[in-house]
Amino acid sequence: MHLTKEEEDILKGEEGEGKRKAIEILVSLGDIQSADRLISVSSVQVSGVSYKTIGDAGLEFLKDFASTKAKASCLTTLNPMGVDLDSWQELGFSEVFVRKQEEIIQAYTAMGIRPSCTCTPYLVGNLPKRGTSVSWAESSSAIYANSVIGAKTNRESGISALASAVIGKTPRWGLHLKENRTPTFQVNAKGIGDTKSDYAALGYYVGKNFDGIPIFTGISPSPDDMKIMGAALATGTIGMFHVENVTPEAEIAKGGRIEKVDVGNRELKDIYETLTTVDDPDLICIGCPHCSIDEIRAVLDTNPRRDTWIFAPRQIKEKMKKYVKNENVKIISDTCMVVSPLEDLGIKSIGTNSAKCAFYSKNLSGLDVKFDSVENLVK
Ligand code: F3S
Repeated sequence: MHLTKEEEDILKGEEGEGKRKAIEILVSLGDIQSADRLISVSSVQVSGVSYKTIGDAGLEFLKDFASTKAKASCLTTLNPMGVDLDSWQELGFSEVFVRKQEEIIQAYTAMGIRPSCTCTPYLVGNLPKRGTSVSWAESSSAIYANSVIGAKTNRESGISALASAVIGKTPRWGLHLKENRTPTFQVNAKGIGDTKSDYAALGYYVGKNFDGIPIFTGISPSPDDMKIMGAALATGTIGMFHVENVTPEAEIAKGGRIEKVDVGNRELKDIYETLTTVDDPDLICIGCPHCSIDEIRAVLDTNPRRDTWIFAPRQIKEKMKKYVKNENVKIISDTCMVVSPLEDLGIKSIGTNSAKCAFYSKNLSGLDVKFDSVENLVK
């Protein structure tokens, strides 16, 4: 990979150990992926924030890295951590866990990273311009950036995103290149239902059965629908999708012969059945990915009759909490149902309208799951 004189100097350690380590990570990644050079990024989203997922080894790595005085050189935000710092006591999370979590956040903030702790940073101030390159790690936010915003990112790891934050650059390969952003297959989903969970089931079906870049036809999803569909698509290997007449780069999809598949309600029904292992969950969890204001309003309008936790970015929680009149409902920020240790609270099963949440709650947290629409779950 070609490096500029300035990048060579950073690699020699002339700007300190933190920057040297960071560029070394980017150069190794670039060499593995046959990138030709580094390109600037306008923002970074770092994953690997919850103590539940990174543990003591991750915490030690971050403390070491922060001790090099490395600093973020562009707008950098964080993925959800393991608890809501406002309500962890009320909800019953352990103080030991919370103290470890605080150390992780301190290490990140010492590096100049905003402790936004959300997987929908684009709803609260980290919204890149169309066409710009970014380095985003959390898979639902990365696929949303590529597909709905029209920014360009590969699905970064927590470490490569952190290195990008320090250097302000990323290797130029994969989805940063126009030729890698065209659709490789078409999914006709005409006639599927239009609840958020139907879009999630559609994304999960396609993500589970295909690789490459789909272009969807026959559907007209809103940005929030694409948020939950993209999260489910990204449970497989897919990092970008198009929707005909909806997403910003669907135009470049025109022409060329690609494989076509039909997906209908029969396939979606199989997904609902596969992801559901329980009829009567302990807790309803909405907000994977974190909710927008409209999505919170929609949940409140259903007037939940069961314990319902809505996960959202902190700024959105602050705006919306005054509208919560129903004592079954809590809005929770900073964390999510997958990266917080719900199982430690004695919760054995959850209901969700998100296929991504259903998949990871089963496979990462060992919870039973009911996957269904919000309307059905909160009855
Ligand atoms: Fe976000 Fe957690 Fe889902 S990070 S996409 S709410 S698993």
